[in-house]
Amino acid sequence: MNILEIIEKKRENQELTKEEIEYFVNGYTEENITDYQAAALVMAIFINGMTKQETTNLSLAMAHSGEILDLSKLNKIIVDKHSTGGVGDKVSLVLLPLVASCGVAVAKMSGRGLGFTGGTVDKLESIPGYKTAIDVNKFVENVDKIGISMISQTLNLAPADKKLYSLRDAISCVESIPLIASSIMSKKIASGAQKIVLDVTVGSGAFMKNRKDAEKLAKEMISIGKLADRQTVCILTNMDEPLGYNIGNLLEVEEAVKALKGDMPEDLEEVVLELGAYMLKLAGIEEDIEKAKKLLVKNIKNGKAYKKFLELVKNQGGDTTYILDLENIPKSKYIEPVYSKSSGYVYKIDAKKVGKIACDLGAGRKKKEDKIDKLVGIELLKKVGSKVQKDEVIAYIHSDNYDNLEIVKKELLQTVKIRQEVAEKQEAIIKIIE
Ligand code: URA
Repeated sequence: MNILEIIEKKRENQELTKEEIEYFVNGYTEENITDYQAAALVMAIFINGMTKQETTNLSLAMAHSGEILDLSKLNKIIVDKHSTGGVGDKVSLVLLPLVASCGVAVAKMSGRGLGFTGGTVDKLESIPGYKTAIDVNKFVENVDKIGISMISQTLNLAPADKKLYSLRDAISCVESIPLIASSIMSKKIASGAQKIVLDVTVGSGAFMKNRKDAEKLAKEMISIGKLADRQTVCILTNMDEPLGYNIGNLLEVEEAVKALKGDMPEDLEEVVLELGAYMLKLAGIEEDIEKAKKLLVKNIKNGKAYKKFLELVKNQGGDTTYILDLENIPKSKYIEPVYSKSSGYVYKIDAKKVGKIACDLGAGRKKKEDKIDKLVGIELLKKVGSKVQKDEVIAYIHSDNYDNLEIVKKELLQTVKIRQEVAEKQEAIIKIIE
């Protein structure tokens, strides 16, 4: 077999065999296939797509490119969660300690920012001392000891996905159904959970721009899950406007901590409760979705979810000083208000554009070697449906760079659209696919 023949075959839109896909995945993981050869094949897959069979074979080959964790020795029902990505998406930071406080064991391998979307690992690493790269035994031990661990893809779990994930980011090949489905499902299969809840985001700030594509992606992931004996539920959620109000790493941690203490933006709450209820259902803790939501709300009100977050952070070496006292959370040098130019109602906040602005401020990477600035980002004060007065502050820009503040302000103003007619707030939950 030869990588050039495989690239040529996909370039000509022909179906690759299981053996050809395995040859590519193993060769790339072992560095016998170069980045530029992999880039050519990934671009051909991006343009020509893959059949369901090819996507399944790619997922399984990537899952088996490293270790497959066996969590059965823990004797706990482990339910995993993953999102297809979004802007202001701090769901994992709130949801996972919350469900862990209700008795679901959480063993979560998260990703870094991809394209214009943020990543949970970058957010966790904005907490001083928090170690996302821990040894596999410690990871399993943490889940056993406190019922939750959240780590990065540094263990030998789906290493092929780790390489392909950053390659796709660097060559603008992220928004592809077979590449996203195989990336997510390979990680979920490798990290050992038997049950999986997936947040499939839809809209401007998601990789799937419309419901039809999101449903197709959801169905592919469910069928890969079935083949690998992993029960998978997909929840389609709205990502047309950013989720919650804050976009940026530490800004999102701050919003998540407030949410865990009960001060939760409405859209974030709807997503957290829906995903959480399905996680409790799959874990066998509460079959009835509405009762499960009540249990989740109870554990926010009684402080158990917040306590579990503190326990998670401490257990992974993080400093809880300013989580305990949000007044002392470090801030960027400049916090610049953005004033509305007109009165009316907000009818659109383009999540992708907001994500790009946050990325340009330094909250995300343009090249994979770039360092993230954990303090910068955007704090919105309005959501779609909000009433606005002329000259009212609609957002704050958090930045360390004085010179580009005027340009960023102008860009942000262009993404928040205001009109005279009343605008409806957006629904957070679109559809459940089981
Ligand atoms: N999340 C992933 O893990 N992979 C993707 O390709 C997109 C989102």
